[in-house]
Amino acid sequence: MTLAPLPGHPHIAYRDGELCVEGVRVRDLAQQHGTPLFVYSQAAMRDALAAYQRGLAGRRHQICYAMKANSTLAVLQFFARQGCGFDIVSGGELERVLAAGGDPAKVIFSGVGKTRAEMRRALQAGIGCFNVESEAELEVLDAVAVELGVQAPVSIRVNPNVDAKTHPYISTGLKGNKFGVAHERTLATYQRAAQLPGLRVVGIDCHIGSQITEVAPYLDAVDRVLDLVQEIEAHGIAIDHVDFGGGLGINYQGDTPPAADALWQQLLARMDARGHGQRKILIEPGRSLVGNAGLCVTEVLYLKPGEQKNFCIVDAAMNDLPRPAMYQAYHAIVPVQGRAGAATQVYDVVGPVCESGDWLGRERALAVQPGEHLAVLSAGAYCMSMSSNYNTRGRAAEVLVDGTRATLIRQRESAADTFRAEILPK
Ligand code: LLP
Repeated sequence: MTLAPLPGHPHIAYRDGELCVEGVRVRDLAQQHGTPLFVYSQAAMRDALAAYQRGLAGRRHQICYAMKANSTLAVLQFFARQGCGFDIVSGGELERVLAAGGDPAKVIFSGVGKTRAEMRRALQAGIGCFNVESEAELEVLDAVAVELGVQAPVSIRVNPNVDAKTHPYISTGLKGNKFGVAHERTLATYQRAAQLPGLRVVGIDCHIGSQITEVAPYLDAVDRVLDLVQEIEAHGIAIDHVDFGGGLGINYQGDTPPAADALWQQLLARMDARGHGQRKILIEPGRSLVGNAGLCVTEVLYLKPGEQKNFCIVDAAMNDLPRPAMYQAYHAIVPVQGRAGAATQVYDVVGPVCESGDWLGRERALAVQPGEHLAVLSAGAYCMSMSSNYNTRGRAAEVLVDGTRATLIRQRESAADTFRAEILPK
């Protein structure tokens, strides 16, 4: 047997020319469940989480999986069983955590636009912390908590004004972003929070962006947040935990982000050097826990040679994999059956949706024929969770692989599923 692992994609490899996720052949899954089909490796998720656990071992900490990256119930259940909490950004995400058996006490609630109803539900469920993003939100949360006769645990999300050096759409820690409370307003905001009867200050929070591949922006954020902690505590307000958000990147196209354990070694050294070694640490990783654990299998429908470009038309589209259309993101695309030595052609890989923006990969050298399958890699994060029903395409099915066992964790949506909530006027 020949084994050819895909660099950067642990647990995804060619065995005798057949793409496998752990011990399962992707072609068999496509035949059994149809395409487009998302396939996730549980071992890859476990390994990604283990790197954070190693990095934070011996410290008071809580890993809160940023479930917006992939909020499928079975994925949440896996992380809940590993002891993770969850970073949520909506009432809907809270319901998913509860449905998957997650512990509400380990839930933190981020986001700039929490509604009163969402706050009420989260308080009743007993979540661990609200990451408050503005002074106005602080007042509303206080009022809702007082109404319920409880105290809301809060942490203020500060905007540390550091450049995460990533795509502008996913950079969040700069002054011009809508996120967090400005550095200069932080102390005043904490002083206000400390006065309000419905609030209990428990921490401080930041998140500087996503797909970060360098250590330096994190070190800057650590410094800036610790400066604030010292200032706030000097004013008599105790801060229990420090939440450094998520953001660690993955390898999409030769990207070389630090490993989570190596990153945390450096960040903890900085915290120790500044005398904050004993502080409880929260983190909110999303992409780095699931991104490279998943792929999307798609069938080649047609090859369409052209004067300027050749198109490879597949059955997955921008509604399944929105990242290329939204961010010009690169996802590697590989054959499900490797044909060693076969002549390749250069194609734009596109979907059936009626938009020129519906492309999955540009100028890819592939040896494929209609009826064969391709796999879009790095599709575990921000793909299914961002998918839509555009063009009345039902959402894809999902399979979770654990060793040689493959479990269907989401059925393919039917057309009827896509218009179930709609009402025809009489
Ligand atoms: N915490 C907060 C407050 C966040 O806003 C995010 C992501 C995370 C944690 C998790 O970040 P991660 O570890 O996944 O980088 N749709 C975009 C990414 C948007 C990220 C939004 N916030 C994409 O597909 O690249």
